[in-house]
Amino acid sequence: MESESLQRELRQEILHARRRIYEVGEVTPLDSITLRDPALEIFVKREDLSPIHAYKWRGAYNRMAQLSEKELSVGVITASAGNHAQGVALAARKLGTRAIIYMPLSTPRMKQIAVRRHGGDHVEIRLHGDSYDQASAAAHDCAAEEDLCYIHAYDDLAVMAGQGTLADEIVMSGRGPFDVAYLQIGGGGMAAATATWLKVNFPGIHLVGVEGVHQASMAAAVKAGHPVSLDHVDVFCDGTAVRKVGTLTHKICADLIDEWMTVTNDEVSAAIQFLWEQLRCIPEPSGAMGVAAILKQREQLAGKRVLSILCGSNMDFEQLANIARRSAVGAARRRYLRIQIPEKAGAMYGLLETLPNSVSIMDFQYGKTDANKAGPIIGFDVSPIEFDALRDALTGGHYEYQEVSAESDVGFRLIHYDPKLMQIPTFITLEFHERPGALAEFLKAVSPHSNLCYFNYVYSGERVGRALLGFEFANHQDHDCFPQVLDSARHAYRTYEPVSESTLLRIIGI
Ligand SMILES: Cc1ncc(COP(=O)(O)O)c(C=O)c1O
Repeated sequence: MESESLQRELRQEILHARRRIYEVGEVTPLDSITLRDPALEIFVKREDLSPIHAYKWRGAYNRMAQLSEKELSVGVITASAGNHAQGVALAARKLGTRAIIYMPLSTPRMKQIAVRRHGGDHVEIRLHGDSYDQASAAAHDCAAEEDLCYIHAYDDLAVMAGQGTLADEIVMSGRGPFDVAYLQIGGGGMAAATATWLKVNFPGIHLVGVEGVHQASMAAAVKAGHPVSLDHVDVFCDGTAVRKVGTLTHKICADLIDEWMTVTNDEVSAAIQFLWEQLRCIPEPSGAMGVAAILKQREQLAGKRVLSILCGSNMDFEQLANIARRSAVGAARRRYLRIQIPEKAGAMYGLLETLPNSVSIMDFQYGKTDANKAGPIIGFDVSPIEFDALRDALTGGHYEYQEVSAESDVGFRLIHYDPKLMQIPTFITLEFHERPGALAEFLKAVSPHSNLCYFNYVYSGERVGRALLGFEFANHQDHDCFPQVLDSARHAYRTYEPVSESTLLRIIGI
């Protein structure tokens, strides 16, 4: 079938879906964010507030509500990266059928728990393979063997039509027309249906298809003229990690999407932070891709009314730490510099004193590797203007430095040090007030009597900072007096604690 007849059928199906899907869910809100400089209004469809915290219940229920009595009595099967699985589970329970659900072994834990919560005894989860595509192949084999109805996550008109109801709600909100819509794409079901509905209701709208950098299977299909399989798919944005898009979805997207773009994982992380700050919601990575694309093209959107779909918020809590770190890099705020200083008492304090007050230190990685010179790596959160001021200050202080923001050892916080070079070392954990200048003050107080030989600190968002510090001493007398020195520097920190004997032995490798 050609794209135009597919779109006609899809529009018809969306109207039917309207009558079915509100048996299990409600209309979701359309929030807006007004930005200045450049001025633009971003509309955000809040699918995270739906029954499964993603839009996938719409398509799954619309498809399964049309199953015959016989099909329902046998049960259904599907494969999913997680959110479609929840939709199928919800529909299976509501319709009183059973569902076998294949998911990749790496499916976030919270998506597995949610499938069980929504489906109860009606679902059986089978974890299989490392990707959606491997799970899908196994599910298709099983469907053929057991003669079960396969509920496709995207390449099915009824599923697509269900997803299209979110676009119907956007139109019915009365807040259109919109100048541009950014639609994220996995297999293409949501984008195809939304594009179909938006184009017919707002004919002047410009549609942008958004994919992850190593997930751009729809752009590849459009280029090739047919769906193609990507060799490698990045899974940070797990909801959209699809190796090969659908045949139906490709036809419609190729016809209706006006522009294609990709977003990096760091840009997606920055968009999650942006949505937290603006709306106090935390989307899952795939859910924030549209907003990431908007922020990327922000300058060219001046004066426009821009639409995005926040399509899900199902994510393991543990992922937040990684997102917070990446976000600073994605927003081009976090910059890591390796700065050369002499390896001698007071040098680190001198360096900290040189830094402008406006810059915040977010990460500090240093270990002694040379008797004469040191190269601490410091991560700063800085705007481009602050970064220029930082560089001017370092140049003014005659410090040599290199930017190491993209280096793997820095990203993984691999702190090199040579314990053999550390003279009579002592290690402490230090808790200090998170305020500009606190560390410099501390180092100033202790540096006449010790030399810093190890420094490990990352900003955690708390009001207090915690660092693991190593000091070395010119002689045993200085070493033994160190507790008194620390006591005399009390004004500069909250508490400290020497590491245990066994920890010290591990650190210095004995
Ligand atoms: C949060 C989220 N966003 C986007 C998508 C991509 O949807 P589609 O496969 O319809 O393109 C998915 C798919 O599961 C998803 O879970």
